[in-house]
Amino acid sequence: MAVLLKPAIEFLAVRRGGTYIDATLGLGGHSWEIAKRLGAQGRLIGFDKDPAALTRARERLGNPPPELVGDWPEVDFVHASFAEVAKHVAPATADGLLADLGVSSMQLEDAARGFSFQAEGPLDMRMDPHSGLTAEQVVNRFDERELADAIYEFGEERRSRRIARAIVRARPIQTTAQLAEVISAAARPMNQAERRIHPATRTFQALRILVNRELDDLRALLCPSERNMGARRGPRLLSPAAEVVKPGGRLVVISFHSLEDRIVKDAMRDGARDGLYRVLTKKPVTADEEEIDRNPRSRSAKLRAAERT
Ligand SMILES: C[S@@+](CC[C@H](N)C(=O)[O-])C[C@H]1O[C@@H](n2cnc3c(N)ncnc32)[C@H](O)[C@@H]1O
Repeated sequence: MAVLLKPAIEFLAVRRGGTYIDATLGLGGHSWEIAKRLGAQGRLIGFDKDPAALTRARERLGNPPPELVGDWPEVDFVHASFAEVAKHVAPATADGLLADLGVSSMQLEDAARGFSFQAEGPLDMRMDPHSGLTAEQVVNRFDERELADAIYEFGEERRSRRIARAIVRARPIQTTAQLAEVISAAARPMNQAERRIHPATRTFQALRILVNRELDDLRALLCPSERNMGARRGPRLLSPAAEVVKPGGRLVVISFHSLEDRIVKDAMRDGARDGLYRVLTKKPVTADEEEIDRNPRSRSAKLRAAERT
């Protein structure tokens, strides 16, 4: 279920005949709404790291509703991280870029992908199953200190040291259920507030962020860096997002936890200071009660938007 769909489409201000980038296709929920507004002259470029997501999105976006068959945009599917958007999209050609971060419901609900502590599965957690370390490799190979630091930094988990110690003692750990059990035994809820979330929530979040280098990718998309500077760019450092979106185009990012939101907020603020963006959301847009009831995942969603100047 696409989160914050209405505000996302409004802030993108989709223009008929325009070119839009969906940096995180997922199941294509946001893309579907963009495509409907683009018309046959429009173009949609969708990225995902996960080949299974691309397959699903391709099926969905390849089947326009009958009344729009002759009025459907060209859709390109790119199997790559959005960190590489500038390698696939020419400078200043996009009217908008949307990034709806994190994992999709399809990934979470497929026990075989290992994202969820609520279903028994292998400890994988890779969005791209063909690249990088699995969560199992991280859990069984990292030393206690590295594990504790990652759980603290990416999970904002205060009991990271205790959890890391328990993980190291319980090795080898092979399944999500086994890991969830080890964490639950090591970090029993101390008060009512802690009882509200499963003790494994933060550690699973940390492992997922680490395995998929999620914050690195987000920084690589939104922040200018020497490494992102190509020979063709001028003296001003541009992030890939600022490079591909044309003046007047929109950047819309939906994040799901404070670590991501901080990166988005700082990147938009710095971009505004450097004359690259006009920030359109003073405060982040959040889901209303009705959306939260329908889709509990939207509870932590924060949308920020900016216009390229
Ligand atoms: C929350 S879902 C997107 C849902 C989508 N907006 C929809 O309406 O169905 C996030 C998707 O982004 C993908 N993803 C996450 N990080 C990525 C990255 N750095 N580059 C490309 N895709 C990424 C995930 O594989 C997942 O399919």
